Amino acid sequence: MNSSGQNVHVDLGSRSYDICIDAGSLPQIAELTRLWLGRTPDQALRCFVVTDTNVLQPHANAVKLALSTAGAEVQVVCVKAGEASKSLAEASDLFDELVDFKADRKTVVLAVGGGVVGDLAGFVAATYARGLLFVQVPTTLLAMVDSSVGGKTGVNHPQGKNLIGSFYQPAGVLIDTDTLATLPDREYRSGLAEVIKYGVIQDAEFFGYLENNIVGLNERDPAVLRHVVARCCELKASVVKEDEYETKGVRAILNYGHTYAHAFEALSGYGVLLHGEAVSIGMVCGSRLAKSLGRIGEREIQRQLELLTAVQLPVVVPLELLAKPDDILKCMLLDKKTVAGDLKFVLPDSIGHVETIGGIDRKMIVDCLHS
Ligand code: NAD
Ligand code: GLY
Repeated sequence: MNSSGQNVHVDLGSRSYDICIDAGSLPQIAELTRLWLGRTPDQALRCFVVTDTNVLQPHANAVKLALSTAGAEVQVVCVKAGEASKSLAEASDLFDELVDFKADRKTVVLAVGGGVVGDLAGFVAATYARGLLFVQVPTTLLAMVDSSVGGKTGVNHPQGKNLIGSFYQPAGVLIDTDTLATLPDREYRSGLAEVIKYGVIQDAEFFGYLENNIVGLNERDPAVLRHVVARCCELKASVVKEDEYETKGVRAILNYGHTYAHAFEALSGYGVLLHGEAVSIGMVCGSRLAKSLGRIGEREIQRQLELLTAVQLPVVVPLELLAKPDDILKCMLLDKKTVAGDLKFVLPDSIGHVETIGGIDRKMIVDCLHS
């Protein structure tokens, strides 16, 4: 990596790995993959690259060129862009491709794309031959700051999102922030909701940095992007280190805004609201709930509203959802944090710190849908 790049170490004992973040770093994929796998340049490198139809050209093709120029054997498999590809049927097709490629435990699977490609390819890598080497090359902002870090892999079941999957850490993550240049505006802004979330849940100083760099965020300024992605990766790595398998309640803080958001996404029909858009509205509802419980004041709500609005994220519950408070509650009761009918919410007590709270009056939860 050149001198402007940043390295974030994910400290998980024997499953530790590095996240290399830099602009224009895709051509280093072969060198980094060899480093992460402990292979010398004269040792064989067989690569199975999974990507989608929007990312193939130029990004996955650039990865392929870099790998084959460095002497690797490369097979690229391209799935249709979109959440529907995160399915057992698609995983099964990838298993067939791996058989044809004569993959073995020395073969490395590289996911080049957003969270859909990362979750799908990670699941396939985790399960084929009881585990192939895995490298993430995220190309959406959401995948850079969230899904490529922490080892959650999986596919959807018709009855539920992410129902089939496993924890499987990659050997390394390469983040080339230049790949964000081709990301559609709505997808980019959706990723910014998760970025802002990290400020609220863990880091008041970072929240202040975001408030002071609105122009850089909106214009995708390379220096701002590099700092933002690196800080979010550090913050997520610190949570994953404490609670890799989500058994201690620590990892749950990443779900700030998500209890409301999951209900909004499910009820408006998946894809109508992008995930980050639903999270943006969910964080506003969550902060109102925190205020109703006397945990924060109006100023903390306003700061979040102003920042989310400044990066053009929605902050108001759509009217058609406001008309269905009972359905929203029903959906929330399906949330994995719900225990014996007690809805749990991750709520701030200041900008930079959250706690998981239960035993909240249901009328109060519904009232916070309204601005
Ligand atoms: P996505 O992978 O569907 O990507 C969004 C869109 O952007 C797609 O159309 C994709 O083709 C396109 N795209 C990706 N990179 C591009 C680029 N550089 N230029 C142009 N187009 C590009 O969606 P996402 O938001 O990245 O990820 C959402 C998925 O991630 C969901 O399935 C969600 O469940 C999962 N997720 C997983 C975790 C985890 O911890 N594993 C965390 C959060 C979300
Ligand atoms: N995206 C939430 C987690 O990784 O736990």
